[in-house]
Amino acid sequence: MRSRRSVLAVPGSNPRFLDKAQTLPVDEVFLDLEDSVAPAAKQEARKNIVTALREGDWSGKTRVVRVNDLTTQWAYRDVIEVVEGAGEFVDCLMLPKVQEPTDVVWLDTLLTQIEQAMGHEVGRIGIEAQIENARGLVNVDAVAGSSRRLETLVFGPADFMASINMRTLVVGEQPPGYVEGDAYHYILMRLLMAARMHDLQVIDGPYLQIKDVEGFEKVARRAAALGFDGKWVLHPSQVDAANAVFSPTQEDYDHAELILEAYDYYTSVEKRGAVMLGDEMIDEASRKMALVVAAKGRAAGLTRTTSFTP
Ligand code: GLV
Ligand code: MG
Repeated sequence: MRSRRSVLAVPGSNPRFLDKAQTLPVDEVFLDLEDSVAPAAKQEARKNIVTALREGDWSGKTRVVRVNDLTTQWAYRDVIEVVEGAGEFVDCLMLPKVQEPTDVVWLDTLLTQIEQAMGHEVGRIGIEAQIENARGLVNVDAVAGSSRRLETLVFGPADFMASINMRTLVVGEQPPGYVEGDAYHYILMRLLMAARMHDLQVIDGPYLQIKDVEGFEKVARRAAALGFDGKWVLHPSQVDAANAVFSPTQEDYDHAELILEAYDYYTSVEKRGAVMLGDEMIDEASRKMALVVAAKGRAAGLTRTTSFTP
């Protein structure tokens, strides 16, 4: 599993941003051909992206290109130019506004044809599917199972809130007048269930108030608490917050490793299934929860500061 705590959006039409992106400590970059690029700049943006992928230093980052959605005139050529031009340097393509499983199948098939024609390994390039309207959300279980290339589902809150007529202008914040609960909870949970059913990662979309780092953190924490793997970042100010919010704390990480080690000792050496670790009862289910936290901590580069003694 790739780490995707912070996913940086970079407009393909802006060479300066394409350079700057390489210096930021994000887990993933996606070079955009869709909504951050004006129609008149799309062709140029494809060229910029191919050059940036081939010549840039993206080490340590997952490299993704967001193509235009299937209903546009640009989608097929985005895929062909980027993958023929720089396919060896692309980890995934992101497909926006996915509504049906066949949308993803279309991209999978086109990728396979290009990989065959270029003599590349077939199936190496993954797919990230953005869910951005009601049809996409209603079909999300089928979308999540539509291709072996799929690695993540991605929530697109700006398009989504517009598509369902939600009365909010600040993406990620509660709509005015909604005082009970969380207006995003159903959508986030729905995405999470579909993703986990198919062992995919699930990523929260952008928070557009880039000056409001506290607001970003609050919204990011909401998604992280449910189990989301990461969130988009639009500006350097959001990067550290995303990496921190989607990593376990040192304390939680140490505790998770301790549970794994203790549980391993008690079940194998003492052959007991439910045991006490300090004041806490741990069993097989605790081990599974600890595995998740430990895996996220290791992926985030944390190291243990405590050890287990029987
Ligand atoms: C992202 O694409 C969004 O629409 O929020
Ligand atoms: Mg969108």
